Amino acid sequence: MSLDPRRRVAPVPRRLFGSFVEHLGRCVYTGLYEPGHPTADADGFRRDVLALVRELGVTTVRYPGGNFVSSYRWEDGVGPVDQRPARLDLAWHSLETNEFGLDDFMRWVGKADVDPIMAVNLGTRGTAEAVDLLEYANHRGGSHLADQRRDNGTTDPYGIKLWCLGNEMDGPWQVGQRSATEYGRLASQTAKAMRRFDPDLELVACGSSHLGMPTFGAWERDVLTEAYDDVDLISLHAYYQPVDDDLASFLASAEDMDRYIDAVTAIADSVGAIRRSTKKIMIAFDEWNVWYQSAAPSNPPSGEDWPVAPPLLEDHYSVADAVVVGGLLISLLRHSDRVTAACQAQLVNVIAPIMTEPGGPAWRQTIFHPFARTARHAQGAVLDVLRDGSTTSTDRFGEIDAVDAVSTWDDNTGEMTVFLVNRVVTTPAEVTVDVTGARLAGIIECVTVGGTDLHAKNTADGPDHAEPRPNGTARSADTGVHLTLPPASWTMLRLRATDVTT
Ligand code: AHR
Repeated sequence: MSLDPRRRVAPVPRRLFGSFVEHLGRCVYTGLYEPGHPTADADGFRRDVLALVRELGVTTVRYPGGNFVSSYRWEDGVGPVDQRPARLDLAWHSLETNEFGLDDFMRWVGKADVDPIMAVNLGTRGTAEAVDLLEYANHRGGSHLADQRRDNGTTDPYGIKLWCLGNEMDGPWQVGQRSATEYGRLASQTAKAMRRFDPDLELVACGSSHLGMPTFGAWERDVLTEAYDDVDLISLHAYYQPVDDDLASFLASAEDMDRYIDAVTAIADSVGAIRRSTKKIMIAFDEWNVWYQSAAPSNPPSGEDWPVAPPLLEDHYSVADAVVVGGLLISLLRHSDRVTAACQAQLVNVIAPIMTEPGGPAWRQTIFHPFARTARHAQGAVLDVLRDGSTTSTDRFGEIDAVDAVSTWDDNTGEMTVFLVNRVVTTPAEVTVDVTGARLAGIIECVTVGGTDLHAKNTADGPDHAEPRPNGTARSADTGVHLTLPPASWTMLRLRATDVTT
C-alpha cells in the first residue's frame, strides 16, 4: 500500500470515538453508577469505571437512549432523588427508578472528561418537551426550567451542542414508531423550534435502524425531503455478528459498513441535489458494534416482572470480535469526510468494552483494546490509502481486498499511523507500506491483536486475551516498511516521518 501525507481525506473527527450510555440493563445502575461500591465517589460514580472510560479514550457519550428514550420523561430524573418517581420502562420491560438522570449524567460527563450527545423523546412526546429539555439544559436562567436546574444545584448552563431527534423511529419495536414523512415533519418542526433558542445546535435526524430494514433508502429520502434544511446529520446504526459460523465474512464486516455509509451519503446528496442545495448532510454513526443479537436476550423480563437494572445484552466478546471492532473503526476513519460522529454501543455492561461486577471489579473486554489504541493514535488527518494487493473471497461480500487499512498523519508530531486488518482466516499477509511525500525516520511501535486464540474471551480474573502484543516483523527501509500480519488479525503500525514535501 502507498501513503502520502499530501493526500488527505479530512481531519480526524475526534467525535468518531464516541460511546453510548442508555438506561438499559446494567449500563447505568451497577455500571457507571453504584453508590456503596468500594470505589464510588460522593456522587455514586464508580471510580474504577471512570478510570477505564478515560483509558478507552472515549470523546463523546450519547444519552439516555436508544429505545429507552422513546417513552422517557426527562423531568422524572431531575430534582431531589427521594422525590423522583419510579416508572415502567416500556422499551426494556424494566423498572426505572430515576435515581440517575440528566444532572447526574452531566456531572458524570464532567468527571469522565467527555462531551455529551443528548437524545430527545420523539416517540411518546414531541416538540414541546424537546424544547423544555433544551431550556432546562442550556438556558442560563430567568425562565422556569432554567431556574429549576439552578435550584437543583447547577448554576451554569450545560451548553449541550449535539442533539438526536428521537431514536430508530422506523422500527416496529420503537414506542411511537412513525412513517418517514410523519417523522420527517416532526423532526423538522422540532429542529426549527430548537434553533429558535440556539441556531448553532447540531441536530441529528434518525436514519434507518439498519441497512436491512425494508424501508431503508426510501426512509432516508423521505425524512430528508422533509427535514433537509433543518438538520445537520443523519444517523446510521449497525450491529454485526457471525452468521452460520462464517468467520471470513464476519471479519469483513467493515465492507458492510462501507457500503451502508456510501449508500446513505448518495441518498442524502441526491436529496440535496434535487433541492439545489449546497449544504451537505453529515453522518452520525451513533450505534455500532458487534452484538450477538440472535442469542440475546434469552430470557427477557416479561409479564408481571419489571426488574430494576436486570442483566441484559451482556455479550462476552472474543478475540475475533476485537479484530472486527478494529476493522469497523477503519471504515469509520476512511469516511471521515462524511462521518463526523460515531458511538460504539454501548459503554458499560450492555454490549460493552467495559464490564463490572456489582460490588466487585471492573474489567476490559477484548474489544476494549483496538478502540483504545485507535482513539489514542488516530490523530491529525486521515490519509487516502492506495491499496494494490491480493483479494480474498467471502460468501457475503464476494471478492474483497485481503487486507483492509487506513492511515492518519499528525503534522504536529510527525507521526504516521497505519491501522490494518488481515481478513483472511487461514494465511498471513505480507504487507509493504510505501511512503511518499515524507521521509521515514523509523518505526515507533507495531502491535497486533488476534492471529491466535480467536475464540478466547476475557473474564474479570483475566487473562487479557486481546491485549495488543508487539509485532516483531516490521522492518523499515528508506521509503517504506515491510511487515507480516497474522491471519485474522488487527495491527497498528506507528511510524515517525519527517520532511514533508509540500
Ligand atoms: O443498543 C441497544 C439498542 O439497539 C438500542 O436501544 C436501540 O437504539 C438499538 O436497536
